[in-house]
Order: sequence, then C-alpha cells, then structure tokens
Amino acid sequence: MCRHPGLACCLLLLLGGWGGRGAARAGEQGPAAAGGAWGAARYEAVERHLGAVGALPERYWRYLACKVWQEGCEEEEGEPGPSPGWSLPLVGQDYLAILSAWYCSFSECCKTGDCRIVNNVTGLEADLTGQLHGQHVAREVVVRAVQGFLQSPRPEKALVLSFHGWSGTGKNFVARMVASHLYRDGLKSMCVKTFISLFHFPHHTYMDSYKAQLEKQIRETVQLCRQPLFIFDEAEKLHFSLLDAIKPFMAHYDHKGQVDYRRSIFLFLSNLGGNTINEVALDFWRAGRAREEISVEFLEQRLRLELQEPAENSYAHSHLIKENLIDFFVPFLPLEYHHVKLCARDAFLARGLPYTEAALDEVARMMVFVPKEVKLFSAQGCKSISQRINYFLP
Ligand SMILES: *[C@@H]1O[C@H](CO)[C@@H](O)[C@H](O)[C@H]1NC(C)=O
Repeated sequence: MCRHPGLACCLLLLLGGWGGRGAARAGEQGPAAAGGAWGAARYEAVERHLGAVGALPERYWRYLACKVWQEGCEEEEGEPGPSPGWSLPLVGQDYLAILSAWYCSFSECCKTGDCRIVNNVTGLEADLTGQLHGQHVAREVVVRAVQGFLQSPRPEKALVLSFHGWSGTGKNFVARMVASHLYRDGLKSMCVKTFISLFHFPHHTYMDSYKAQLEKQIRETVQLCRQPLFIFDEAEKLHFSLLDAIKPFMAHYDHKGQVDYRRSIFLFLSNLGGNTINEVALDFWRAGRAREEISVEFLEQRLRLELQEPAENSYAHSHLIKENLIDFFVPFLPLEYHHVKLCARDAFLARGLPYTEAALDEVARMMVFVPKEVKLFSAQGCKSISQRINYFLP
C-alpha cells in the first residue's frame, strides 16, 4: 500500500488501527525516504513513540486525522475552538507534535497536509499557457475556477466544470493537466478517477449495476482522499440513471455527519455545444476580429443558452445543466491551421526529434479543414497529431 515511504498512506495505516505494525513499517522505510535530512537520533525518538501508538485511544487518532488532513473533523463540530471537547492526554499532544514534524519532514506535503495532493495552480497556469494552443477562454475559466475553489477554506459544494467543444480541441489535455498539477501521481493518483461513458458503462441493460459500482467508487475515493477528482469523458453519452449516483456528491451539502465531499472536483467532457462555439469563432473571423477578442462572458452565455435547449435524449448531461449543478462552462474553440502546427511542433519536441517548418506544414495539411468554403478549422483539432508525425520519422 505504501508505494513511497513516508507518505500519507503510511500514517493512514497507523490511523486505520494498524498500530505497532504500522510503526514497524514506518521504521523500516522512514530513513531511506528522508535521506540525509532526517537525523538518526530524532528518528529513533519518533520510532520509540510510534511503538506505543497502539495504546492511544481512537479519538486521539481522529483528532490527528482532523488536524493533519482536515478529515473526520465533522464529529467534533459544534464544539468551539481548536481544542476538542474531550481531554487529550498530554502524551497525545506530544505525539501530535512529533508525528506532525515527522510527517512534514517529507517536504512538499506540508502545505496541503497530504503528499498526494500538490495543488500547483501556478504550474497549471504556466503549462496551460505554454502547451494549450488556441484556447484563451478555456485556460482563463479553468485557472480561475480551480484557483478560487482551492483557496476557499470551506467550499459550499463540490466544484463542477463542464468542458465543451469538438474533439481534438484539448478537453482531455486540460483534464490531464489539472490532474497532474493538483496530484503528485496525476491521473494515476488514488485521488483521481476517470470514467469514459462508452468504455465503463457500455450496455444499457446493466445500468443498475453500473450505478451501484459508480456510487461505491465515488464514495470510496471521497473517503480515501480529501480532495478527489472525478473525470467523466464522453459525458454527452452518460446515461441518465447514472446521474442519480453522482448527483448527491455534487449538490449543496446537506448530509450532516457523513464524509465531506465538498472538496471534490468533477470534470465533464463533452462535444455538446461544439457547433455553437464554432459558429461564434467563425462569426468573429468573418467580422475580421481576432480570435482572442472572444470574451469568456460572451462565449459562456451563448453556450449556456444553447445547452438549455430541450434535448431529446435520455442522457444525463442536460439534466446536470437544468439542475444548476454546473459551476462553470468551459468552451473549447475550434483550432486553426497554425494551432495544428504548434501541436505538431510539441509532438516532435516531446519525442526529442528535430523538426522543420516544412514538416510541420506537412503534418497540418494532413488534417481536414472546415467549413468547405474557407477551410478555417481543423475538423479533428489536434487529435492524433503525435501518431501522425510517425510518417516523418527516418
Ligand atoms: C509547478 O509546476 C511547474 C510547471 O509544471 C513546475 O515547474 C514546478 O516545479 C511545480 N512546482 C511545484 C512546487 O511542484
């Protein structure tokens, strides 16, 4: 379970009642993890203390979990101040200080209180600026939404973002970026779950079983991680009945005493509204205006109006919108020729390969551009560009 020594999971093992065994694990792995930073004497002291961990009352561990991860604090709510309503044995206070120091000696975890969560919004913004081409609106909305949410000490509800646009415009790319800048292990993090409608929930006849599984997975992830991220790809194909499984986790908080899921982040990726977004971009182009003049407010409003049109399908997405569960609509603009070239350049760079302007042009010319009369937008965006450059390899 503890892939990296000294991580939150090791402490979770302790908290989970492993007591002595957990301490032994920490004992074996601690010094290696901390490298030279960890003095041997101090380490031994902690080890001695941890050896007695099993003797501590469960309430103390809940207190620690609350202090370190802001988890499991709900039960103590209503009692004023940081001091819990029960008398913490002095020895407990001591453990708390030592354990916190031990925990935080593993550097980057101190700020967020959990090594799995890094919340590098500055990095997210920088990388979106450098690597996401032609999406000034999406970049701005995502950074603002995520930043605002993470800065809020007690969010009222989970953050729900809905990404819209044609395929290949960067929705998946941004979802991956969010995962990799908020979580140390990116999409592989135990805090991050990705669901692809037709892949995870392919058969209509099994919806009840999918629903139960989905509910279980969300619940478990929320329990394991105080800031989980759920990504629903192909959201336009998400079956209506599955929404019932997800909805309670996104709604305003009303289940007192249960696990707090208000720190969850939900991303829904769909191609709904793609045509509307493209029309806006085309109108701007026809009017001779720069693409960058398309404002967040204008595009979001157009998208919202379009999506509120009654849809004749049983898919869940329209209901999400009707019930106001979505906090931000994130429009992805159609990509132009020079954006596709930038994607090709990135693909060459990512493989450490040299490229020429001519090669980039050749890759870009392989894409189909629409509408027919003006051939302005890549119909596939930057999709599978990295495979296409295979043709140019020696
Ligand atoms: C944040 O992300 C940027 C860009 O990926 C990276 O250079 C930087 O080292 C990261 N910062 C931290 C604290 O991880």
